[in-house]
Amino acid sequence: MDPLSAYRAFLERHPAYATTTALDALRSADYARLDASGQAYLDYTGAGLYAESQLREHTALLTTHVFGNPHSASASSADTTGVVEDTRRAVLKYFNAPPDDYTAVFTPNATGALKLVGEAYPFAPGGRFVMTADNHNSVNGIREFATAAGAAVDYAPLTMPDLRIDRPRLEALLAAADATEDNLFAYPAQSNFSGVKHPLDIVAAAQARGFDVVLDAAAFVPTNRLDLTIVQPEFVAVSFYKMFGYPTGVGCLLVRKRALGKLVRPWFAGGTVNFATVQGRAHILAPLEAGFEDGTLNYLSIPAVAIGLRHLESIGIDTIQTRVTCLTDWLLGELLALAHSNGRPMVRIYGPATTASRGATITLNFYDPEGHLLDYRRVEELASACGISLRTGCFCNPGAGETAEGLTEGDIRAALDDTAGRDMTLPRFLQFVQHRGGKSAGAIRVSFGLVTTFTDVHRFLAFAGTLRDQAKLALGEATFDIASCRVIRDGS
Ligand SMILES: Cc1ncc(COP(=O)(O)O)c(C=O)c1O
Repeated sequence: MDPLSAYRAFLERHPAYATTTALDALRSADYARLDASGQAYLDYTGAGLYAESQLREHTALLTTHVFGNPHSASASSADTTGVVEDTRRAVLKYFNAPPDDYTAVFTPNATGALKLVGEAYPFAPGGRFVMTADNHNSVNGIREFATAAGAAVDYAPLTMPDLRIDRPRLEALLAAADATEDNLFAYPAQSNFSGVKHPLDIVAAAQARGFDVVLDAAAFVPTNRLDLTIVQPEFVAVSFYKMFGYPTGVGCLLVRKRALGKLVRPWFAGGTVNFATVQGRAHILAPLEAGFEDGTLNYLSIPAVAIGLRHLESIGIDTIQTRVTCLTDWLLGELLALAHSNGRPMVRIYGPATTASRGATITLNFYDPEGHLLDYRRVEELASACGISLRTGCFCNPGAGETAEGLTEGDIRAALDDTAGRDMTLPRFLQFVQHRGGKSAGAIRVSFGLVTTFTDVHRFLAFAGTLRDQAKLALGEATFDIASCRVIRDGS
């Protein structure tokens, strides 16, 4: 179907999309580089995109102020402290966090926020660290701190095929904890692998069992509202570039002040102490967030966070959510309907096939007419030649990928043994797994955000259509006609 007819049919099925057309005007005015470069950007879960107006506003601020190092009493220092504290308040307000309950610690990214919790949580024998199998590696990594301190570490599995949390198994793990010990539970509000939105009521359920909760909201907040008067985890991690593209290098840990008092920092640094002595070998940590912000903050970028938040507010997160939900619903349906001439499906989607409790991240693999997996690296190469930016691999979320492919502990152990004594690299590991029973250890991910248009998504679908009836596309095997965005088999 040509793009215009497809758009008409889409609008008929998704009339709510028409309420979001302000985003098309915004894209033309403020994200003109996208269409000027002919890019179909489909990796918003990797990184959001910034509006040009955000850059202008930030440049204007920097060119009209003298910002010095915040750790002194000069006017230039006070100006810096002023914009940093204004931004902290803006962050708390954006997430509707009661300021007497929560504070925001600025970090380099979501990973930095998660590490602050992991390294300072009072893990100890008798206590537990429970995670869901669906987690980014920046959460999985916390298990190293827990294990080193003698706490028990457990994963709650996912259900197939929807990759949702196995609630009874999770409840059993939570119930097994001794509520008098320090117990931590960590999960993502939205999966960066499958797009599943995990239930936010798990926060209160885990707290009722004596757990402190880390909510990894990095993939959730770019297209969803997180209201911290409704859901109140002890710790929330976000990266701002995922929400509005700019600046990079700034994230935050939203943290309940009560829980902050429970964390034991493993060291002190410039900026985090009220007092430190060499002769006395003692230090007094600064109170609240100041005790957790090591060294000099990224004070020139932090004000750009307030600008980005205003930008999001001026658009409205609900409008963004409506748009990406319409597009996700449409693409899921179209992809699942793709079939080779022999009737075999072309696509396997990992996770839910509808938009119920799922966000705008779709992970999939393509198959040839015989049902063989198409190499996702080759698909990425072809998509890229076609001006489509998507993501492939494991997305730093091994647990969701392993569950999706039914990889067992035995599969993983065999792969580890096979590579024992050699350098374990991800490609080598993936190759091994792939040869073992045709399982894929990687996939293709497309994700939508603030200024995704129907045209972007239609381009991806048109590209997917070119893989119809293609036999196994080994890397470098088939050629691709960029002008027509068409795969050409050797010799054809
Ligand atoms: C769910 C989730 N958590 C954490 C992270 C880590 O974010 P960053 O690399 O910005 O620290 C990501 C990044 O993709 C993510 O998607």
